[in-house]
Amino acid sequence: MLKVKQEKINYTDVSKIASDYTDKMNKEYNWMAKGYDAFMTIFPLWKKWIKMVIPHIHGEKILEVSFGSGYLMTQYASDKYEIYGIDYNEKMLEITTIKMKKINIKAQLFQGNVEKLPFPDNTFDTVINTMAFTGYPSGEKAMSELKRVLKKDGCLLLVDFDYPNNRSRFGYMMVRLWEKFGDIIKDINSLLIKHNSDYKDVSVGGFGSVHLFIAHKK
Ligand SMILES: C[S@@+](CC[C@H](N)C(=O)[O-])C[C@H]1O[C@@H](n2cnc3c(N)ncnc32)[C@H](O)[C@@H]1O
Repeated sequence: MLKVKQEKINYTDVSKIASDYTDKMNKEYNWMAKGYDAFMTIFPLWKKWIKMVIPHIHGEKILEVSFGSGYLMTQYASDKYEIYGIDYNEKMLEITTIKMKKINIKAQLFQGNVEKLPFPDNTFDTVINTMAFTGYPSGEKAMSELKRVLKKDGCLLLVDFDYPNNRSRFGYMMVRLWEKFGDIIKDINSLLIKHNSDYKDVSVGGFGSVHLFIAHKK
C-alpha cells in the first residue's frame, strides 16, 4: 500500500480560522439544504458511512447534533427512542421537521449551536454526530459540549473525516480534499483522550479517512 510520511499528517491551524466561520458555512448550507438529499442519492457511500452508527445506538434518550436534512434520523427513528435534534441551519431544521412528521415519529428538533447545547449536563444515553465535526470552528468546544450532555456511560457516536490510521495515500488525499473545501481537520483521537473517554476508532471507508468513533463517557 502507498503510504504518506508521518510528518505530512498535519491538522488545520485553528488560529487561522475566522471568527465568523460558522456563519460563513451556514450561508453555504442555506443553498445546499434543498439539494442535500439529492447529493446523498448520487453519493450513496455517504449514507452507508453515516448509517454505521445505528447498531451502536443505546438507551432511550437520543440526541443528534447537526442532523442536516435528517436522512439518518429517519433511518433509526422508532417509538422506542425519545429523539432530540439540533442543527444550526434553519432550512435543514425545516426539512427534517417535515420528514419526521411524514413518518409519524415524534422528535424534538431545535435550531442551535453545538458550542452551546441547550440541554443540562448528563441528559442523553447516546449522542450522534455525523459528517459535521470538521465543519465546526473549535473541536475543543464542540467535544466538550457533546460530552457534557451525555450521561455517565453514555455513548458518543461520531463519524467524520480524519487522517487514516494506516497512512494510506488515497485516504490522506481525501482528507486534504475535504480541507480544501473549507473544513477543519481535527485530531479527534487526541480530543477524545483529553476528554477522558473510552473509545474505539473504526475505519468505515474512504481508504481509512472516514472514521466511526464509538466513545463512552467515563
Ligand atoms: C455536512 S452536514 C452533515 C449533515 C448530516 N449529519 C449528515 O451526516 O449528512 C453538516 C451539518 O452541520 C450543521 N452545522 C454546522 N455548524 C454547526 C454548529 N456550529 N452547530 C450545529 N450544527 C452545525 C450544518 O447546518 C449542517 O446541517
